[in-house]
Amino acid sequence: MIFNKELIKWYLQNNRSLPWRETKDPYVVWLSEIMLQQTRVSQGLPYFLKFTEAFPTVFDLANADESFVLKLWQGLGYYSRARNLHYTAKYVANELQGIFPNSYKELVKLKGVGDYTASAIASICFNEPVAVVDGNVYRVLSRFFGVETPINTTKGVKEFKELAQNVLNTETPGNYNQAIMDFGALHCKPQNPLCDTCMLSEACIAFQKNMVKDLPVKEKKVKVKNRFFNYMVVVTTNNTTVLEERKEKGIWQGLYQFPLIETTKNVNIHELISTQEFNKLFTQEVTVKLFNKEEIVHKLSHQHLYTQFWIVNTNEMSSAIMEWEEVIEKPVPVLIEKFLNQYLKLQK
Ligand code: ADE
Repeated sequence: MIFNKELIKWYLQNNRSLPWRETKDPYVVWLSEIMLQQTRVSQGLPYFLKFTEAFPTVFDLANADESFVLKLWQGLGYYSRARNLHYTAKYVANELQGIFPNSYKELVKLKGVGDYTASAIASICFNEPVAVVDGNVYRVLSRFFGVETPINTTKGVKEFKELAQNVLNTETPGNYNQAIMDFGALHCKPQNPLCDTCMLSEACIAFQKNMVKDLPVKEKKVKVKNRFFNYMVVVTTNNTTVLEERKEKGIWQGLYQFPLIETTKNVNIHELISTQEFNKLFTQEVTVKLFNKEEIVHKLSHQHLYTQFWIVNTNEMSSAIMEWEEVIEKPVPVLIEKFLNQYLKLQK
């Protein structure tokens, strides 16, 4: 098949030299593939280097504190990936004597390992002929084969998985899978793809039909929800504060935050101090000041968080037991990390 032969030829000349490509150790490949989901290689690479240095083996990762794992993950987003990573490291270390399963069928049973990751590890480490489908693969396949089924529908997911499997190079599936991903990232790019110098353009349906810009098709996004966050940055006369772990399920589970009061709109100081939550939190005398004069908008995939940090000075508060040196050790959402960088700089 010309398609997959050409891709492999292209890959042998153009592939990115990346540290996880120098090994077939499933632990290392698993780490890299979990990190690179929904993440560009350039963004994931420093995290990969940090993790392999801190945890050279699955046993090192398994034995680490979850807080430390989340701290190293800080900024990479989608924190459930880090929690699942840690869970699976413990499982492999303790139940499987540190040996990863060696087939797609067994790999996909691991927590946090879905169809994509199981296919990537099985093909790269064990030469199993299973095709990966990620954003790059959707783009290359939809354009070359002129497939207009929306990629974010059940029908699309099934159709593209079948197509990917049919055109897979079964002799070197690991190289082929990485070839199509690299080709999508470097050549058949979302914007300004390099069609002029593409070895596949003559057979590419999107190119022939002038549809490159229109593919792949994605169904309309869900509506973005606006939320209004007020973080209460308590500062006692002893210079201690309150930082709490987010226990409830959700994207920031396990991360730390200042006490949070969520409101239905952006509030001013009068509105804030008359909320029930504020009065429940602070029964003693306090002085309150808004820290960020400019509104901070933190954009997540389905939510925009309009955020205000309030400095709450008080003599004492029984829950305010944390020193700032400890605060900076804790894993926090990037939103709070940015605040801390600004705030602590001003205190120096
Ligand atoms: N994106 C995620 N994993 C990848 C890999 N192994 N090669 C290229 N791009 C990737």
